[in-house]
Amino acid sequence: MQITSFEQYEQDYKKSVENPEQFWGEVAQNFQWRKPWFKVLSWNFQDPEIKWFEGAKLNITENCLDRHLATNGDKPAIIWEPNNPEEESVTLTYKMLHERVCRFANVLKRNGAKKGDRICIYMPMVPELAIAVLACARIGAVHSVIFGGFSAKSIADRINDSQCKLVITADGAHRGSKQIPLKDVIDDALIGCPTVEKCIVLTHVRTPVSMLKGRDVWWEDEVKHVNDICEAEEMDAEDMLFILYTSGSTGKPKGVVHTCGGYMVYAGYTFSNVFNYQPGEVYFCTADIGWITGHSYIVYGPLSQGATSVLFEGIPTYPSPSRFWDIVEKHQVNTLYTAPTAIRSLMSFGEEPLHGKNLSSIRVLGSVGEPINEEAWHWFDEKIGHGKAPIVDTWWQTETGGIMISPIASVTQTKPSFATLPLPGVQPILVDENGNEIEGNGVSGNLCIKFPWPGMLRTTYGDHERCKQTYFSTYENLYFTGDGCLRDEDGYYRITGRVDDVLNVSGHRIGTAEVENAINMHAGVVESAVVGYPHDVKGQGIFAFVIYPEMHGEAELSKKDILQTVTRVIGAIAKPDKILFVSGLPKTRSGKIMRRILRKIAEGETTNLGDTSTLLDPAVVEEIIEAAKQM
Ligand code: WTA
Repeated sequence: MQITSFEQYEQDYKKSVENPEQFWGEVAQNFQWRKPWFKVLSWNFQDPEIKWFEGAKLNITENCLDRHLATNGDKPAIIWEPNNPEEESVTLTYKMLHERVCRFANVLKRNGAKKGDRICIYMPMVPELAIAVLACARIGAVHSVIFGGFSAKSIADRINDSQCKLVITADGAHRGSKQIPLKDVIDDALIGCPTVEKCIVLTHVRTPVSMLKGRDVWWEDEVKHVNDICEAEEMDAEDMLFILYTSGSTGKPKGVVHTCGGYMVYAGYTFSNVFNYQPGEVYFCTADIGWITGHSYIVYGPLSQGATSVLFEGIPTYPSPSRFWDIVEKHQVNTLYTAPTAIRSLMSFGEEPLHGKNLSSIRVLGSVGEPINEEAWHWFDEKIGHGKAPIVDTWWQTETGGIMISPIASVTQTKPSFATLPLPGVQPILVDENGNEIEGNGVSGNLCIKFPWPGMLRTTYGDHERCKQTYFSTYENLYFTGDGCLRDEDGYYRITGRVDDVLNVSGHRIGTAEVENAINMHAGVVESAVVGYPHDVKGQGIFAFVIYPEMHGEAELSKKDILQTVTRVIGAIAKPDKILFVSGLPKTRSGKIMRRILRKIAEGETTNLGDTSTLLDPAVVEEIIEAAKQM
């Protein structure tokens, strides 16, 4: 199923559009099913209702583990690289990973988990995180992984939204020189989570934690009580595999739902093709499993293909900005898949951290999460790939389950800052504000997808209407991505960024409404408006305009208070980079905040603010501009 030439890509693409069912039916033959499907696809985008491989039975862990045992049992599945380079790295072969997943699956059962139950996972980037994820899938429980940077309140909201019965966590996490007290955060969260019956705690950083009698148990103790034999639960192709919460333009994150069959096929197919993975190669994706990239391209995609996947606990700059290069050298990494924000951050340290590092093992480079600027692209290409490793700039989303628009390594001619061409099975279309198709090349518009693909979301947990409204109602019969996009003269796609009120800060999706809600929770804040602005390293920074009439003490302290509130409500990842206190916000007569104006001010623009005639009180804009100049 690997594409090895551009001609083949063109043929496969053509076939995938002309006969999608046959195309995906053939791709799916490369996976292991307990029972075949009777229909490859049935769908409509109105409801929406999407079913892939209807009637088929499988368990994704049999594809990620069992099927490799006979031939590749002793091959490394996961290489874990700890935060602290002085600690030993850990290699788990497919045999070992299989054994541990089965054992932990039995622990889950022992603690009352069964098929269909939702299980929240809040863990550091350790092998046990992948084990926990796969153990859920083994028994048919639905995992909801929450990134370690989210606050207790965010966790509680997510746990309650999907009524999780179990939580899997650790005493803490290492992150560079910092320690994050995961169990403490979970304890705060669980005060407001009546559905949680059990909490399984892994010892990792060895910090004291409080263990609640009857609820909390230690991972290390539990695994002693069970054996490592666990038959995989037989799942329907359309049974839920996982929920992953993501931000949108409203204040409340939504639980994107992926199902077993289609997601597996899509993650595996795209992994194998985009990175042109070759047996025996070492593949390193630097994302966190708390985000979709980690789900699809650290765990499910690579393991379904029998690959060796590096799982890194730390951050790119600890203990020094050479860390990635040390890991590449140490584990002889062949593919490095990372985010533009990491590249820009490492770039800022100059070439010194690269001196003496042997990066000759690198064959393919990848980028994901946000548009990659040309400067970062060239640096990546020249300094890391030495001009020999193709860069796959992969565009996709939590909702798409896997990569959608991207070069295929060594097949597609790349172009800096372009995600290039759609993968087979992906039918992008650009539309104008009214939903009219923009045809031809050298055009730009809003990016939509007009035909289903196996990895697409099926619903948003507990609220199907919201799924419909968010993705399928803006334009009739189309999936709307929320991204703006350009198609150049060669028909190459370049994603230009979100066109809705979603920010992309260091590759993390954050809704402006969510940040505003958090700021507004601070006593004393009357109202706020949040916009993004270009940031050298983060891609986008968060700029908050805040009305805070009766400030006690100095402004600096009040800003810190607000940051503290945001950290409590969402997590440190959503902290504004800039806060400006204002006496009013630019609003239309109907009371709508004109973000367009605020965005321009945040970008440093003070004169060309466009039409302000519809403003209720134009004087407020002058005042904001003056205040911004003083920053
Ligand atoms: C953005 C991450 C430009 C985009 C996999 C999308 C990108 C959002 C790229 C999804 C790329 C992702 N070029 N923009 N290669 N990849 N994006 O759900 O705005 O965390 O809608 O999924 O990131 O973010 P999410």
